[in-house]
Amino acid sequence: MPIPKAELHVHIEGTLEPELAFRLAERNDVSLPFRSIIELRKAYSFDSLQSFLDLYYQMMQVLRTEQDFEDLAAAYLARAARQGVRHAEIFFDPQAHSERGIPIDRVINGLSRALQAAAERHGMTTQLILCFLRHLPQHAAVATLREAEPHLDRISGVGLDSSELGHPPEKFRDAFAMARDLGLRCVAHAGEEGPADYIRAALDELNVERIDHGVRCLDDGALVARLRREQIPLTVCPLSNVRLRVVDDLAQHPLRTMLAEGLLVTINSDDPAYFGGYVEDNFTAVRDALGLGEEDIRTLARNSFHASFLTAEQRSRYLAEVDAYRFS
Ligand code: HPA
Ligand code: ZN
Repeated sequence: MPIPKAELHVHIEGTLEPELAFRLAERNDVSLPFRSIIELRKAYSFDSLQSFLDLYYQMMQVLRTEQDFEDLAAAYLARAARQGVRHAEIFFDPQAHSERGIPIDRVINGLSRALQAAAERHGMTTQLILCFLRHLPQHAAVATLREAEPHLDRISGVGLDSSELGHPPEKFRDAFAMARDLGLRCVAHAGEEGPADYIRAALDELNVERIDHGVRCLDDGALVARLRREQIPLTVCPLSNVRLRVVDDLAQHPLRTMLAEGLLVTINSDDPAYFGGYVEDNFTAVRDALGLGEEDIRTLARNSFHASFLTAEQRSRYLAEVDAYRFS
């Protein structure tokens, strides 16, 4: 069994495997611009974040009913459980669905049913994080938060994703202030393709508690010192970084440097259906490419629980599982 871990950076729409996509396309009478799974997989060749996002939004069209969202999340949670995930904080993109006429309650109801089942089926804990699409205006984010208000008992936080360059964190200052006033936790993607300054802006202008990706922090020594001092978690996604050309190859990935700098880094899958692996696949890929030892792996697993939004009691229960884990 893989080491127990938390996954803190996974977009549920990015777990849509080709097989399920074609099944849902047929069930919902949606036509996809690909004739076969093989043809679709050939489109999984990206040269930037945007080239991925174009396909990601296109494939989402097959998600229409509450059952579709439940099936999507149930498939992810079953795979995650097999990969040692004990706790998952899952992103979803309601604006990508409301734009197509799918109301937020249908999305949240479907996802929640799968999350509830995963507690019984896999003994996992889960949370949902609503992401704002940063290529859309702030007023659209605010409107989405208003639509989500009746469901806040099932949402633990807000995040910020989609096209990073040209959409700095400060564009969403009011939306994040509103989220904080509603008692929501705040995270944001920053420093994936965007500069180190976006990481600083996410911390200072949005008051986020965690940075998604954050690999570009290494361009700025003062920022690294601050991230270390404040132990701001960075949810790093190695296979994603390779597929989206953020790094040239895994052997060049800065994860080892980030660990050596004393940063609170975690390993995550981002959009596993598109990037060639789920979270344990990311663990083994970086272990092999960077020559990480067993205690590095244990540190990464411990970090994932430290960086989570679990209660102190839940966290210590999971940390005890990590400490008791024996590598085989
Ligand atoms: N970056 C930004 N937005 C996203 C991503 C990502 O890696 N995946 C899904 N939406
Ligand atoms: Zn992401």
